[in-house]
Amino acid sequence: MHFSIAAALAAALAGPALAAPGVSPATVSKAADPGSSFKVDKLVTTPKIPPTPDVVLLVDVTGSMGSTIANIKENLAQVITTVRGDQPNAQFAVVSFGDLDDPNGFAVVQDMTSSTSLLQTAVNSLVADLGGDPDEDWINALYQISTGAVTFRTGSSRIIVLVSDAPSKDPSGGHTLEQAIDALKTKIAARVIGVNVSDLDGKGQATAVTSATGGVIIGSAAEEVSKAIVSGLKNLDVTVKPNVVSCDAGLTVEFQPTSTTVPSGDTVIFKETVKVAAGAVQGAALHCSVRFLLNGAPGGTAFVQSVTVRVNRVGGCDKCIPQPGQNLCHITTSCAPTPFGTMCLTRPGYKADGAADDDINVHWRLKWPVPGHEHRVAVKPGTSADTLCDPKHTGPDVCQEVVVADCKSTAAVGQGVPAQYDDNSRTQEVIAAGDRDL
Ligand SMILES: *[C@@H]1O[C@H](CO)[C@@H](O)[C@H](O)[C@H]1NC(C)=O
Repeated sequence: MHFSIAAALAAALAGPALAAPGVSPATVSKAADPGSSFKVDKLVTTPKIPPTPDVVLLVDVTGSMGSTIANIKENLAQVITTVRGDQPNAQFAVVSFGDLDDPNGFAVVQDMTSSTSLLQTAVNSLVADLGGDPDEDWINALYQISTGAVTFRTGSSRIIVLVSDAPSKDPSGGHTLEQAIDALKTKIAARVIGVNVSDLDGKGQATAVTSATGGVIIGSAAEEVSKAIVSGLKNLDVTVKPNVVSCDAGLTVEFQPTSTTVPSGDTVIFKETVKVAAGAVQGAALHCSVRFLLNGAPGGTAFVQSVTVRVNRVGGCDKCIPQPGQNLCHITTSCAPTPFGTMCLTRPGYKADGAADDDINVHWRLKWPVPGHEHRVAVKPGTSADTLCDPKHTGPDVCQEVVVADCKSTAAVGQGVPAQYDDNSRTQEVIAAGDRDL
């Protein structure tokens, strides 16, 4: 393979600083009407090394592997440090294999552990030895690892780094290449990285097992093996899947795509659609919590997203017709123009009788485009409005306990309050007759 590990590493190290792994934006906060929806683009930057790695170093210990094993001993601590730099909870195991006809056929030297010293001790104990005939028994080793020889953590990313300079016997220990591939995929969902010391892929077996498991083969000189392991870990695919942890009633989120697979380190864009149910509680703040799974496991707090939607109060905004005989406003209110059409307005400081402050279908305040009228309360035609607003709010803040309706403007933007508003004789009259000291 004409692939320069040195160049790939240099590119990885010297490349522009990428976004930290996680989801952006992590929080979405927006107001929306009941029955509406909106879209948000979510960028999920995946970690350079897939999450929660459980890495098996599967090392050929036959006679020809001496210099490669020496290199692994020397560089193991650096490999562990590099991997932990991207994924602090990475664990490793050390498994050796040779020829099953010899005593060194298969051994779990160190089961999965986070202890660097235990791993170093295990690697230091490896001795290149024996192995008379050219082919080794790594198909058996892959099969054994897939069927209980190594203890993997639940939800971990399983990676087997096969370091060898020769093809495997097939069948090996009674297991065919096909059976080993099937066990790797179905029993532990592990990916195999082949470190091709010289003739690993001599029979195409390494290509078969790495491509079937989503791994890679790295051609490498012996002294480059440790770098190759780190580089190989960085080239693995990661599947990103949004997963809704919880959503309040009335709020749902959907993602497009529902799942996607990219090389680890890449950034994925999900189109998120947030839907507010028609019956969502008006005025409520509704929450959803969504996490992004990486290879089926939670990616940690950086991959959790929170959505908050404040549900607009809709309704209210009932109009009146300012014509004699058609004006149905109660005598305590007057039909007056507003930027949102003519409505029955109360006297300043008054609100509807017997209505809850948030009963927007009976009375409401308006989002005036110019300041100074925010305190005015509008009521549904026919509603009597002889109730004093809460005395704890005064002046321009009076009646602020009554909710604001999101009426659609009927006046041109910037036009402000129609001139005739303040001239409305009936309003003035009512104000004069029943005004409250503000
Ligand atoms: C493995 O390495 C050998 C020797 O460097 C090379 O000839 C061969 O093409 C490599 N195979 C793969 C699949 O990388």
